Amino acid sequence: MQGDAKEEVRSRLDLEAVIGEYVQLKRAGRNWKGLSPFSEEKTPSFFVSPDKGIWHDFSSNQGGDLYSFIMRVEGMDFRQALEHLARKAGVELSDYEQHSGASAGLSKRKKRLSEMNELATVFYQRQLLQTQTAIDYVKRRGLNKQVVHDFRVGYSPAGGRVLVQYLTQKGYSASEMRGAGLVGSRGGDMFRERLMIPLMDPQGGVVGFTGRILSDRKDAPKYLNTPQTLLYDKGRHVFGLHLAKESIRKADVAVVVEGNMDVISSHQFEVAQTVATAGTALTSSHLKALSRFSERIALAFDGDKAGIAATERAIPIAQEVDVQLSIIRLPDDFKDPDELMQHDADMWRTAIKQAIPAIEWLMLQYETQMDVTTAAGKRDLTTAVLTVISQVENPVEKEHYLKKLSERVDTSLETLVDRMSQLVSTNQQRLKSIKNDDKEQAQITVVDQPKQDALLALMMAYPDLRDTARELSVDAFAEQHRQSLFRYMITHGEDVLLETVPPELQEYDIYVKIVQLKAEERQELSAQAAQDETKHLVGHIKAQHLKQKRLDITTRLRSAEASGDEVLAARLRAEFNGLIKEEHARKKEDR
Ligand code: UTP
Ligand code: MN
Repeated sequence: MQGDAKEEVRSRLDLEAVIGEYVQLKRAGRNWKGLSPFSEEKTPSFFVSPDKGIWHDFSSNQGGDLYSFIMRVEGMDFRQALEHLARKAGVELSDYEQHSGASAGLSKRKKRLSEMNELATVFYQRQLLQTQTAIDYVKRRGLNKQVVHDFRVGYSPAGGRVLVQYLTQKGYSASEMRGAGLVGSRGGDMFRERLMIPLMDPQGGVVGFTGRILSDRKDAPKYLNTPQTLLYDKGRHVFGLHLAKESIRKADVAVVVEGNMDVISSHQFEVAQTVATAGTALTSSHLKALSRFSERIALAFDGDKAGIAATERAIPIAQEVDVQLSIIRLPDDFKDPDELMQHDADMWRTAIKQAIPAIEWLMLQYETQMDVTTAAGKRDLTTAVLTVISQVENPVEKEHYLKKLSERVDTSLETLVDRMSQLVSTNQQRLKSIKNDDKEQAQITVVDQPKQDALLALMMAYPDLRDTARELSVDAFAEQHRQSLFRYMITHGEDVLLETVPPELQEYDIYVKIVQLKAEERQELSAQAAQDETKHLVGHIKAQHLKQKRLDITTRLRSAEASGDEVLAARLRAEFNGLIKEEHARKKEDR
């Protein structure tokens, strides 16, 4: 195992000898001292503690163990540092890695899940052949034998534990079945009395299932899907890709529909370049997976509000992934492509051929909602369309759409271009002000950490002073290791902590040792000086914490206002005012 190799290498090397190759070290009591290799300092503030196995650079407030020193100074990642030091120590890494642990364990578990899914698929397929109601349902939906075979459609029986028993008998544990998403909350079969459609990866391996109820009932969901598992991630899964990929390449377009049944029908009617995102919004992972086979992607979404919103969201993603997006319109009176094909498959083929670029489609939709003959309608339409056009990167394409818009709203190109840059700059300003807040926040954290470390060192060196820091809340400290050490010292007033690391803090061993080193350096302070400095640091950290909280609220307030959430905005404003008062009170105290 890698962990053993790491410790073996460490035990064979002297920390001060390894670091001594980079830094000239001089003895300083139990420690070694030298000029920091990470800053341009003139007086040495770089310490190495062989007893503790750590180094610390006071000038840059960095520290760590043997490995982190080599990573920093050589710019290596952990693996490279391990290899480098193993060579130095004469340790053969391969001796430790023959049965390498974690990743082998993971791929083994994935393999077991795959095998289980495969067994379940065959099991459901057999059940379909034996169940008349299910066969009738398949017929009613107009699916032929070929497509049922290709998509490996099956049926999950009633009974409650039929699949669980079958898989148990095949040697799978309950927890493995749960990991595959095949058991429900009560330990029985997840899928019962449903038409089963396997979800497959692009190579055809089964990663999960979706199950459709046979008769539309109000008391159960129409479709039940495998939850997130090691194999199935619904935000990435493209349904039907393994059967569609060749056709997508040949037709040079991927047709994306909403439902799995639409995909299956489409294949039956030999429009095999069809896939689905099945109940989730289109993500860039979906588009990336498809763009490997074609750069043209045609969406068959509804023309309703949800369809418009989905298309607005899809346009920037398509720009980012660099694919061309078009929209397929279904004739009125047909709910989805499946219904259209069952009526007349040629109408589906024609609809695909007549797909129009996404932005043009959006313009048409906006026009049906806004009255272009009025000034207000024109303004709303141009604002909506220009926001979309501004995201188009290709200048030729951009101009094309601008011209179209110019004709539609009967406004000059120049005016539109002006308005677009206006929109872009307000959007950018909004983004920038959010980023500035972020920056201020990041600065506080970086600047503050040395002060927090200094306070913790004083608290360690002078247990009597721990009470003075009690007024600080734990989350005034950055990161887990500081918070845990602070909490420990507040609750263990008498524990000296200078020599040993208690079990509760083992996890942050190196950090605690660094603070010990700092504490040692502070022990010569007079009691009065230590107390003054502690008070000063507590005041400073508290003030910074209040400021950070205020910035936090400002950011959240701005996004609440942007999304029109008035209730949340009002609450945040009240919180904000409370903080301002607190800050004032603090400043008075200081004076
Ligand atoms: P639809 O209700 O439009 O279903 O939901 P559909 O695809 O036309 O299904 P059929 O033709 O009635 O069998 C669209 C998609 O939303 C997801 C499914 O992926 C479905 O294909 N959905 C719907 C669910 O995941 N769960 C549900 O309960 C309903
Ligand atoms: Mn349908």
